[in-house]
Amino acid sequence: MSAQPSVAPDRSVLRVEDLSVAAGSTPLLHEVTFAIDRGERVGLIGESGSGKSLTALAVMGLLPEGLGATGEVRLSARSPATRNLLEVGERAMARLRGDSMSMVFQEPMTALNPTMRVGAQVAEVMTIHRTRPKAQARARAVELLEQVGLPDPAHVARAYPHELSGGQRQRVVLAIALANDPGLLICDEPTTALDVTVQATVLDLIVRGIEERDAAMLFITHDLAVVATVCERVLVMYGGRIVEAGPVTEVFADPRHRYTQGLVAASDLTGIDGARRERAALPTIPGTVPPAGRFPDGCVFRSRCAHATEVCRTRPPWTTRGEHPAGEHARGFACHHPAGGERDD
Ligand SMILES: Nc1ncnc2c1ncn2[C@@H]1O[C@H](COP(=O)(O)OP(=O)(O)OP(=O)(O)O)[C@@H](O)[C@H]1O
Ligand SMILES: [Mg+2]
Repeated sequence: MSAQPSVAPDRSVLRVEDLSVAAGSTPLLHEVTFAIDRGERVGLIGESGSGKSLTALAVMGLLPEGLGATGEVRLSARSPATRNLLEVGERAMARLRGDSMSMVFQEPMTALNPTMRVGAQVAEVMTIHRTRPKAQARARAVELLEQVGLPDPAHVARAYPHELSGGQRQRVVLAIALANDPGLLICDEPTTALDVTVQATVLDLIVRGIEERDAAMLFITHDLAVVATVCERVLVMYGGRIVEAGPVTEVFADPRHRYTQGLVAASDLTGIDGARRERAALPTIPGTVPPAGRFPDGCVFRSRCAHATEVCRTRPPWTTRGEHPAGEHARGFACHHPAGGERDD
């Protein structure tokens, strides 16, 4: 049985159900379940090593060699909704990547070809997927570079990646990711490597690009304030499990899982109702994230949790609240001793 809610078919663009990933006998992700609707922006947060990137890579069919995935990943946008992407071949996945779904990574240089002019790289993603004939793709590439806020886009199109700044390169990557109007965009720390001043602009461009296309977005970040700005819903991950989920404002103002409570307490979320605090003296979560495969059984967080008791040696059930208790959009958490009182059930 899944520890998380089952996913009902609806407007979802992405449905992930009971996704587990392992490196040989070392489990890395456990029964990860969530869905993202058209037009919805969902954040995925958690400390380093919690499994955020692996979740994204499993969805994209880009897991490193040696890792195996089980469960279900289904995309409804422009692909038969019934296909489990974990079971389709690499050629079919390559057709989906850059077309129905695309991804923006932290470091733009890794996504760009250093020997190719950036305009040609934006055009190429359209000609490879045959969404535009070659003649139109070049012109469309310049339009896309303009849409991501690059001044003098015709000039930028003729530049090589090394001639651009980090922020400009990330805009080019975004133009490539949006070129074929994907139904799903996954961003993994897309602005972490950028200057703070550039960050806000790039985040704004990402949100605008998603809104214009009515696409779905999974946004991975360490930064809770960024999630609060960009996303409507948030998934909190620890030890390769989703431990809490729900609307951003509710989860950050009233975290139930003790891990989420620690993350929120350690963040500067000034400006979010109910979570205002001074920047000075932010508490930290005690201890460190264990290496993969070394998380305790039962509640994965219990080795660091001040509230843990004997019952935490057993797996906490997924407790839902809110309007759609059985749905994947419900507010839910998996904690035996939740903040704000005992479990409601
Ligand atoms: N190829 C691999 N083989 C074995 N273990 C791996 C592999 N890739 C990742 N892991 C382990 O899986 C766990 C989750 O890694 P993941 O990269 O998803 O974390 P993350 O949440 O994205 O962290 P960060 O915030 O640092 O990017 C980590 O313990 C990591 O060491
Ligand atoms: Mg990562």
